Amino acid sequence: MGKPNIPRPRWPGRLSRRLFLQRAGWLGGAGLAATVLSGCGGGGSSGAAVGRVPVSDDPDTGGDAAQVFPHGVASGDPLQDRVILWTHVLPAASNAGESIAVTWDLALDPDMRMPVAAGNTVARAERDFTVKVDVTGLQPGTTYYYRFTARNRQSVTGRTRTLPVGATDRLRMAVVSCASLPHGFFNAYDRIAQRADLDLVVHLGDYLYEYPGRGVSEAENPDEYGDGRAIGRAPEPPHEIITLDDYRTRHACYKLDPDLQALHRQHPMICVWDDHESTNDSYIDGAQNHNPERGEGDWPSRKARAIQAYYEWLPIRQTPGADEARIYRQFALGDLVDLFMLDTRLLAREQPGEPALAVPGLPAGAFTDSGDIARPRDLLGPAQTDWLDAGLTGSQARWKLLGQQVMFGQLKVLGAANALNLQNPGGQGGAFLNPDQWDGYPRAREQVWRIIRGGQPAPAVAVDNVVVLTGDIHTSWAMDLTEDPNNLVAYNPLTGTGALGVEFVTPSVTSPGLDELSGVGEPALMTQNPHMKYINLSEHGYMLLDITPERIQTEWWFVDRLDAPDDGETLAAVAVTQSGSRHVVVGGQASAPAADPPALAP
Ligand SMILES: [Fe+2]
Repeated sequence: MGKPNIPRPRWPGRLSRRLFLQRAGWLGGAGLAATVLSGCGGGGSSGAAVGRVPVSDDPDTGGDAAQVFPHGVASGDPLQDRVILWTHVLPAASNAGESIAVTWDLALDPDMRMPVAAGNTVARAERDFTVKVDVTGLQPGTTYYYRFTARNRQSVTGRTRTLPVGATDRLRMAVVSCASLPHGFFNAYDRIAQRADLDLVVHLGDYLYEYPGRGVSEAENPDEYGDGRAIGRAPEPPHEIITLDDYRTRHACYKLDPDLQALHRQHPMICVWDDHESTNDSYIDGAQNHNPERGEGDWPSRKARAIQAYYEWLPIRQTPGADEARIYRQFALGDLVDLFMLDTRLLAREQPGEPALAVPGLPAGAFTDSGDIARPRDLLGPAQTDWLDAGLTGSQARWKLLGQQVMFGQLKVLGAANALNLQNPGGQGGAFLNPDQWDGYPRAREQVWRIIRGGQPAPAVAVDNVVVLTGDIHTSWAMDLTEDPNNLVAYNPLTGTGALGVEFVTPSVTSPGLDELSGVGEPALMTQNPHMKYINLSEHGYMLLDITPERIQTEWWFVDRLDAPDDGETLAAVAVTQSGSRHVVVGGQASAPAADPPALAP
C-alpha cells in the first residue's frame, strides 16, 4: 500500500481468557501451542527446507495431525467441475531432502463415508513439501470434504465447494485483504470460517507482509509494522524477507495461525497478491521497499522468488501454458457472476509518476492531475487489458465483479471537476491523495472506462453491472464509479445518473487503518468526493457480499478487537446496488443466512 500517513493500531477491548487459550492452542491441539505463542517457529528449527516447525522422526506412534500437517489444509480456485486442494507435509528429520508419498480423498459428507474421489501425489523438497491437487470430474454447486494422508498420519478434514452452472439465484461470499500478523489476531478470518453458508472467500492480497518484526527500519519508521512479540505474534524470519527460504518461512509462519487455518479449512479461496507478498509498493521493475544497495539483490530475482513461494503456499491454479507471473484469471459463477481477478502490481505496473504537488495548505503529498501524472503509464498492461476487454464485453452474467488491489474510484482531498478530463477542459482539477492507486494511472483507468462504454462516448454503457472489489488501503469505502465525480453536469450523486459502475473496498483484517487520512477525516472526504457513499477509516474486519439477480448487498462486519482472540463482531454498514442502477445506496439490515447450509468441516 502506498501511503498516506499511517498511525499506530488500536488495541481495544478486554482479554477473553477462554478464547485466548483455545486459539493459542492450550485447549486442544497441543502441538501448536508453543509455536503460536512464540510467533511462528519458536526458533531453533532444525529443518532448513521447512524452517518453522521442528521436524519429528516419530511419525508412527502417538501425536496428532499437526505433527505431519502443521499448516492445515486449504482449497481454492473452484470451477464448475474441479477445485485445487492444498496442504504441506512436514518431512521427517532423517529424510528432509526426499520426496514424501501423499494420498488424498474426497467425499460428500464430513465423516468421509460417501467417497467420491481419491488419488496419490508426492510432496517434494523442490516445492517446499507443499502439495497441490487439481481434483476434476466434480459436480457443480456441490460441497465436498477432503483430507490428506502422509507419514501414517491423516490431516484434518477440509470443506470446499464447486462453482454453480446455469440459473443461479443467490451467492454469498466474504472479501478480505491485509492481514498483518504482528498487528493482531485474525479474528475476522475465524468469523468468516464460522459462516457455513458462504460459497467462497475472495482474498485481495497482503496475505502476509514482508517486513521484519520491528518495521521497515528503526530509523525510517520503527512502529509502522511493529513488533508483535507483546501478543506472541512476531513473524519469522525476524528480518525482511529476501531469499526464497525467507519467503517460504514467512508463508509457513502465517499458515500456523489457527484462524487462518480455520478460514482455509471451511471455504475455498480465490486469491490474488497485492504488493506485500513481494515487497511494499512493488511494480514491474522495482519496488519502494527493494534496494539492491542494501544487499537485496536484483529485483527480477526477488520478484520471482516471491512469486514461487506464493504459488507453493496458496491454493491457486496456474493458468495453463502461462508462467506464474500471470495471475489474472476469470471465474464463472453460474449466470449470476463473472469474477475477474486482476493484477495491478507485478505484471505490468510502471513505476509511479512524479505528480505535481498541489497548492500549499493541502495535506502533504496531495497532487494535481497535471504534468507527469497524466502521461500514459501501464497498470494492467496491454495483454491484461485486452483480456479484460474480451471478458467483460463477452460476459453474459448479470454481475461482473473485478477483484483487484488498489482503489479504482477517485479520491480527492480537494474536490473539483477534473482538469485532465477532455470533456471538461476548463476544470480546475482539485487534488488527489494517493498516486499508488488508480488516481496515479489516469490513462490506464481511462482504458477501463472505454471498455465499459464499449468505445462509445459518455453516457453510453455497454457493459452494465460492473462492481469493483478492492483491498490494499486498510479502510472501508463504498462509491459510485464515474469518470469525473465532481463534474455535476455529467454525474448526479443523488441518483447515480452518469455513473459507470460501483466499487466496494474491504477493510483490513488487522493492518493499521487511517484514523484520519493526512489530516482529513471521514466527513470532509465525503464532502470533497460526492460519489463516496460510505467511509470508515479505522475499523477492521471483512466485507460480506450477498448477491441476487436483483441486487448486490455489501455488509461491513467489524471485529470487536485485535489484541486477543475474540468472537465479537458488529455489522457497521450495509450498502446496496440495484441491477442496472450503477449507484450505491447505504442502509438496510443484515441479509438472512442461507437456509440449511452444508455442515462445517469437523
Ligand atoms: Fe495492506
